Amino acid sequence: MLPKIDPTTTKSWAKLSEYANQKISIKELVDNPSRLDKFTFTFNDFYFDFSKNEVSESTMSELITLARECNLTDAIQAMFDGKKINETEGRSVHHVALREKSKPEVVKELEKVRLFTQKLHNGEWKGFSDKPITDVVNIGIGGSDLGPKMVSYALRPYWKRITPHFISNVDAAQMVETLENLNPETTLFIIASKTFTTQETITNALSAKSWFIENGGSSDSISKHFVAVSTNESAVNEFGIDSQNMFEFWDWVGGRYSLWSVIGLSIACTVGYDHFEELLKGAHEMDLHFKNTELDENLPVISALLGIWYNNFRGYDSMAILPYDHRLRYLPSYLQQVDMESNGKYINRSGKKVIYQTGPIIWGEPGTNGQHAFYQLIHQGTKIIPCEFIGIAKPAHAHTDHHEKLLANFFAQAEALLTGKSKDQVIDEVGKDASDILVNSKIFEGNRPSTSILIKELTPKNLGSLIAYYEHRVFVQGVIWNIFSFDQWGVELGKQLSKPILKEIKEGKEGNHDSSTNTIMKTYLDMRK
Ligand code: F6P
Repeated sequence: MLPKIDPTTTKSWAKLSEYANQKISIKELVDNPSRLDKFTFTFNDFYFDFSKNEVSESTMSELITLARECNLTDAIQAMFDGKKINETEGRSVHHVALREKSKPEVVKELEKVRLFTQKLHNGEWKGFSDKPITDVVNIGIGGSDLGPKMVSYALRPYWKRITPHFISNVDAAQMVETLENLNPETTLFIIASKTFTTQETITNALSAKSWFIENGGSSDSISKHFVAVSTNESAVNEFGIDSQNMFEFWDWVGGRYSLWSVIGLSIACTVGYDHFEELLKGAHEMDLHFKNTELDENLPVISALLGIWYNNFRGYDSMAILPYDHRLRYLPSYLQQVDMESNGKYINRSGKKVIYQTGPIIWGEPGTNGQHAFYQLIHQGTKIIPCEFIGIAKPAHAHTDHHEKLLANFFAQAEALLTGKSKDQVIDEVGKDASDILVNSKIFEGNRPSTSILIKELTPKNLGSLIAYYEHRVFVQGVIWNIFSFDQWGVELGKQLSKPILKEIKEGKEGNHDSSTNTIMKTYLDMRK
């Protein structure tokens, strides 16, 4: 059980509220030579630079006190002990055990993954016409899609002979587009669903099965082309997949924390089991850091506390994830689920409505693309957006010039946000006869916060550590906000309401809803005639 402490009742919350309106010059803070000693950290191949954040040392230490007053250390221990901290679902939260491989059932399933991927890669696992598998299609959504997809593309240089594909949306356009270039003889489908009841996944899986049969496959050869990853054996069997072709995980693995389980099968198929293990190892090393390091040197804790400072005291309610690496292009959408599905909640651990902000809006795009899209607002907009830049020192390609330009942009953007451009600098550039309109439009106030993470190489191990860093950041924030980070009741209502609406659509009638919903349904029914 997690403590139920309303953070606003702590002494540190009151202190931080006093600090909240302080004017802070990040530039002045950074000009102090000791700033870097206190706000930069190394961890294996990582360099974390928190120095460009809008936080003074005294505020940071008050934030650490807040974490202590909210019993963070006990909460961390409870998670690592596998306690039932997902109270509203009556479940433990133990994804860290997947990385530690301390449970026999985990080791057993991993061994199954190892043998399966081995057979796939050495061509022993064959399709119905005796050809080896060349393409793997993961059919899943949310946690059963975003993590495997993000990791598979992040590890593109490690791909073996299997090409991965991901189908998630119930919109058949995605499925059609994916399947049109695939050969059923050499395609393997992984149906990935914790519950095996998710509408999108089951609809897509049934259509994939029909596609397979209509294009030369047969019911008898399904076992060579369909495997399942789930916690629900009976639903898997009912779908027509034998338990032998099922990879199992457990209810103590949350959907958005499941890429480390057999939900990561598509990752192992793509990059090989040895690299999947490295991913787990990297996450485990971050777990050990998180569990064993003092709060004031603990990377996920520092990052989480900065987020709380911005969200609850400075009024900055979003966070941009800006990876300067094409391979990490799916990281922002992956983190959207991890963060927003975990902490987008207004009911606290005592069942009462909170009176403070919880989960921020997470968004982002890779650099440099974002620079030509939304960075205008980040630099000169009326909102302050704390940014998290991520760069990789050694690329996996030989185009040094590209890479140097990429990283130059990363460093320049973080610098520009910090320093801005003064009126004098602008006048020097445009001349003193320039209009005020032009001069003022070209001034950058600067003083906009960012964190920079520089990683030596994007190896499976380093990627594992990076993901675990974000997972633990979310955990820390949930503990302090006194909310349950591991349920997701907020996704249920829409699912529920879609059922009668679907029935009405199929029957061609608009139903009995509010006037707006009735009218759009009627318009749809008319339009599609
Ligand atoms: O609807 C939200 C959700 O339950 C997520 O939490 C989960 O990751 C996703 O749906 C998919 O669920 P499943 O793996 O059970 O198909």
